Amino acid sequence: MTQEQLQIEHDDIQHKLQAHIDNKQKELICKIKVTMDSKYADEIAAVMNDAYKDDWTGPQSFKTCDRTNKEDIINMMRSQPNNGAFVLLMDGHERIQSLFFVDFNNVNSQRVMGLHMLSVPKKLQGRGLGSLLMTLSDITAETCSCSSIELTVISQANLIKDMYSRKGFVEYGTKPWPESYISHIQDEKRSEIYFYMMRKTIKNS
Ligand SMILES: CC(C)(COP(=O)(O)OP(=O)(O)OC[C@H]1O[C@@H](n2cnc3c(N)ncnc32)[C@H](O)[C@@H]1OP(=O)(O)O)[C@@H](O)C(=O)NCCC(=O)NCCS
Repeated sequence: MTQEQLQIEHDDIQHKLQAHIDNKQKELICKIKVTMDSKYADEIAAVMNDAYKDDWTGPQSFKTCDRTNKEDIINMMRSQPNNGAFVLLMDGHERIQSLFFVDFNNVNSQRVMGLHMLSVPKKLQGRGLGSLLMTLSDITAETCSCSSIELTVISQANLIKDMYSRKGFVEYGTKPWPESYISHIQDEKRSEIYFYMMRKTIKNS
């Protein structure tokens, strides 16, 4: 159970992350929160929509709507209460500064962590919070005895894919955009868009 295990390991994960937070980030980040509580749904949706704004609704975007909304997040929390959790970086006023979602799955007797929705709001981008989230993701996978981390990147986002490569992820395949999301893409772009699947091996497992 993802959330339960993350709650158990919370203090250890937070302690390990401290060493990676620089002085400027300490002004922004105070603690980690692991949650599937719907009281955070509105704020999670706002942070994600802000982070993904250019890709999803900007003038050059290939999609037609916001990345998510409060109802989607609540549905997600209700539909997989045991198999996933939001990991939030919070400031001293209990405001979310950045986030990701993780789930744990058993694949060929190995424990694999899925990393999703890595989000840093626009005004905080470029200050190392994305890298800090990825360090937090590594620490989380390691502490929870996962052998690897897997994620998907949309085919249009080559620069993000390069960023993941620099963080140790390797492409291992592609997959189509899910049917349920197809209406979010402009008609003329549908055939061009797919996902890269990427994986990073965790050393100490
Ligand atoms: C991707 C994202 C999390 C990076 O956050 P950030 O706080 O700006 O990242 P950092 O300042 O820590 O920079 C991390 C690295 O990513 C690179 N980078 C940051 N934003 C980037 C972008 N939009 N495109 C390409 N590279 C980017 C930086 O150059 C840096 O590279 P380096 O580690 O080799 O120096 C943030 O831009 C975001 O939320 N984007 C929208 C959501 C998204 O696309 N998420 C990924 C889904 S797969």
